Amino acid sequence: MPVSEEIQRAAEALRRGGLVAFPTETVYGLGADAENEGAVRRLFAAKGRPAGHPLIVHIGAGELLSAWALEVPDSAWRLAELFWPGPLTLILRRAPRIPEIVTGGLLTVGLRVPSHPVALALLTAAGRAVAAPSANRFGSVSPTTAEHVRRELGSLVDVVLDGGPCSVGVESTILDLSGADPTLLRPGGVTREELERALGRRVSLHAGGARAPGQLASHYAPRARVVLAEADALPARVRELLAGGLRVAVLGPAGELPEGVVAIPLPEDPKERARELYTALRRVDELSCDVVVTTLPPEVGLGTAVADRLRRAAGPRKGER
Ligand code: TXA
Ligand code: MG
Repeated sequence: MPVSEEIQRAAEALRRGGLVAFPTETVYGLGADAENEGAVRRLFAAKGRPAGHPLIVHIGAGELLSAWALEVPDSAWRLAELFWPGPLTLILRRAPRIPEIVTGGLLTVGLRVPSHPVALALLTAAGRAVAAPSANRFGSVSPTTAEHVRRELGSLVDVVLDGGPCSVGVESTILDLSGADPTLLRPGGVTREELERALGRRVSLHAGGARAPGQLASHYAPRARVVLAEADALPARVRELLAGGLRVAVLGPAGELPEGVVAIPLPEDPKERARELYTALRRVDELSCDVVVTTLPPEVGLGTAVADRLRRAAGPRKGER
């Protein structure tokens, strides 16, 4: 089926209240018509996402900001112009047309214009705003290929659009512009340095407490336990885990590794590392490893987002994820 027909079919599914998985430049999203409460409820169920965790609303163009948010500040217009379509989510005051279920009862809403051509074509064809979390089960690793989505959610989704592997590979940057000072809630595809340059001021980092699941201690996690280590301490840590009888993977640029370790390569370059991170974490589970050991990249540019996700993947786990 030609892509445009497939997109038409997906757009119709959305308009009928269905669920559509679609590619964005960051990760694949699981979309529902943002103004259709029933559809959004099904979305929460498919993801296994607890109610009260707000969704990002995807729109087809920056000009639409004022249709979905109230009192849009100049800073938001400026960032929209500079970074949209692209991997930036802006938190603004919610327009009343957005049902409460979408924002988990918050008075704010996260809005973004994705840059993947399939996402933009879908938003245009549907003529709707699309509420979409990452298309994975709650707490697990975000999908960066259509195949990841089919394996994890296939039967629960009406249409899965395949737009190839995601080019950014980690989720969008979330910037809260609803308060007095711009606050970074999640590092992502647009770097803090870029935002500070665009705004001409410092952007503060969110200081804990969270409605955002991306801010829970354990999130973005594979089944295997994730262990962080300093580069020079890594071999010893690995030997210790091996001695405990575990199947151990090491994620990262190839180096000298003890015998019996599953090496999962991850490029040194920050952009490539971000792009391949989630596929590599999924690989750890596919290869039935019990634990994966990795170092954190330097926290500049996209390295900040990669380090953030790895820390959360290594975070303490409570009950079900
Ligand atoms: O790159 C992305 O942002 C991807 C693609 C599909 O667009 N989406 C994504 O959605 O990562 P999700 O649901 O996995 O993560 C959305 C994050 C959550 O941490 C959520 O709590 C936060 O955005 N969020 C959404 N609305 C918010 C709001 N009004 N205030 C604070 N955080 C919000
Ligand atoms: Mg997610």
